[in-house]
Amino acid sequence: MEKMRRKILFPRDVIERRVQEIAAQLSADYAGREIIVIGILKGAFIFMADLIRAMNIPCKVDFVRVASYGAGSESSGKVVLTKDIETSIKDKDILVVEDIIDTGLTLTYLVNWLRERNPKSLKVCAFLDKRKRRKVHFEADYACFTIDDGFVVGYGLDFNEQARFLPEVYIMEQTEVKE
Ligand code: IMP
Ligand code: MG
Repeated sequence: MEKMRRKILFPRDVIERRVQEIAAQLSADYAGREIIVIGILKGAFIFMADLIRAMNIPCKVDFVRVASYGAGSESSGKVVLTKDIETSIKDKDILVVEDIIDTGLTLTYLVNWLRERNPKSLKVCAFLDKRKRRKVHFEADYACFTIDDGFVVGYGLDFNEQARFLPEVYIMEQTEVKE
């Protein structure tokens, strides 16, 4: 029998320190400007909440929700927008916040779609980046951590809607259980 077990990858203090660092970098890069931070639901909500509170620049917030239809932990490549933003982003500085970049398909779709609305600038900040898993080229402007292959949960990230609430990031491992 196979059982999923989770092992801690990033403890709270490590996450907190890194989020502060990225927030400081963003505050310096956007000094004197007001940005609109767009979070990608659901995964990004916890990271985004910590990030904007650690930044010392004023921001407005909005959210999009995208579904990438597919089974289990694999994204199918077919990305559909299921919740639109409610703010005009024309001529505004936009920061898109995502939980994790995997194949790159979600953000490629979303960034193209947002650019059609003519923002003044658009940058992407991801909490995690699985760089080696890309199916399409995509570079985030900011990323807290780069990770190798493997499925992670916690700090907003889920496995079948579970484990988002965990304050740490865990990696899922399959273990053989003898019966
Ligand atoms: P992409 O389109 O393949 O880059 O997929 C990005 C989306 O897949 C993320 O927003 C997550 O919802 C989901 N995802 C990819 N890898 C993981 C993971 O390790 N844990 C949880 N969700 C993941
Ligand atoms: Mg997501």
